[in-house]
Amino acid sequence: MTDQTKAAGSATLNYGGKTVDLPVLSGTTGPDVIDIRKLYGATEAFTYDPGFTSTAACESGLTFIDGDKGTLLHRGYPIDQLAKHSNFVEVCHLLLHGELPTASEYESFERSITMHTMLHSQFDRFFEGFRRDAHPMAIMVGTVGALSAFYHDSLDIHDPVQRNISAIRLIAKMPTIAARAFKYSVGQPFIHPKNDLNYAENFLRMCFAVPAEEYEVNPVLAKAMDRIFILHADHEQNASTSTVRLAGSSGANPFACIAAGIACLWGPSHGGANEEALNMLKEIGTPEKIPEFIAGVKDKRYKLMGFGHRVYKNYDPRAKVMQESANEVLAAVGDPNDPLFQVAKELEQVALNDEYFIERKLYPNVDFYSGITLSAMGFPTTMFTVLFALARTVGWIAQWQEMMADPSQKIGRPRQLYTGPTERDYVPISQRG
Ligand code: SDX
Repeated sequence: MTDQTKAAGSATLNYGGKTVDLPVLSGTTGPDVIDIRKLYGATEAFTYDPGFTSTAACESGLTFIDGDKGTLLHRGYPIDQLAKHSNFVEVCHLLLHGELPTASEYESFERSITMHTMLHSQFDRFFEGFRRDAHPMAIMVGTVGALSAFYHDSLDIHDPVQRNISAIRLIAKMPTIAARAFKYSVGQPFIHPKNDLNYAENFLRMCFAVPAEEYEVNPVLAKAMDRIFILHADHEQNASTSTVRLAGSSGANPFACIAAGIACLWGPSHGGANEEALNMLKEIGTPEKIPEFIAGVKDKRYKLMGFGHRVYKNYDPRAKVMQESANEVLAAVGDPNDPLFQVAKELEQVALNDEYFIERKLYPNVDFYSGITLSAMGFPTTMFTVLFALARTVGWIAQWQEMMADPSQKIGRPRQLYTGPTERDYVPISQRG
């Protein structure tokens, strides 16, 4: 526990004829926690919380979410202020080191990332093993895990210097790998990073430049891309971050842990929702079809993808910024009257005023508008979750670093409520009915 954790009294549990006093701990803000680490020893009973709706699995100082107020803070700074005034590389420094960098800190931090954007030339051969129509997320899961086969000089997880080198390598190389996954899927040659471009510019150029002509990065798209990266950087103990922490708790190397996070993010209930949300808007097609779709959601035939959240029971603050980005990008390169954008805005208004969604506190989340923006920027829907994984890598590795720096860290090993057969003797096959 850090020195920010304070004792805040105790909770008394009466169970099995015993009375157990459980310590209550307070952080700097947000809900207190009831420390149950001694519960099983005192009662021989487990707590039961599938889906972890009421469980704090760790202590963290990185990101705070207030689901009722719809606020998101990274090291105390509100996401809307970071999206407006900061840039992704600066947010990476904030998440990794706890403070916004001074000008000289920023310059050396950005330089350290720039100098690690290239991949080992043998790494490019990994892509050749995939079919051209492989989903880019399948390529990401496979290739990011393979990074551990190349960087034996930074796999000692107990050395903070090597942990930091791995963090920089992952943040720096994810855009290069993601761009290669995209280029491979469209059958175009890989484009190498250029050191005179910033993080978002470099990524857009690696995705959309071709050797046959010069490529000029559109500044509106670069700004929108950078802002989208900021919005996806970290988000408390979500499913993929918890996956990274659990993988890391066994002592697995950081590249393997991030590959595990990518695999978890792929699910349509999590990072895969941005791809599904755009597919849903295409399926609906026109505002006239919205009532029929909403009826299907109420009949539980479909989910409203890009809506709802385990924590936000109010508007996801990232969705507001994402909608602004959609407006800017559509005005710059798309059709401000893009029919899918019109369907999305109409669908949002219908849902926000419908009792079914109001009583379930379902609001747009970060994935609702991202697909429209990314599509207008030229990305196919299969790349949407790849971009989420690219941005979230800094959050995953910052959370992993925080866990690895905790001297009390131990392997995560949940228990269960067993409902299978009780002990019975083996029956030879000749005696089975
Ligand atoms: C991300 O955790 C994070 O922080 C994740 C994330 C991050 O940055 O890491 O924010 C990124 O994953 C955002 C969420 C993206 N997923 C989607 O947009 C998929 C659609 N959303 C749902 O699958 C759902 O809302 C979840 C998974 C996001 C949250 O589900 P919960 O908290 O487990 O809520 P629930 O399933 O218990 O739902 C409560 C009720 C249920 O209805 P009833 O059984 O009470 O009648 O709300 C309904 C659900 O059926 N419901 C929805 C719905 N989401 C919940 N109904 C229709 N459409 C939806 N989207």
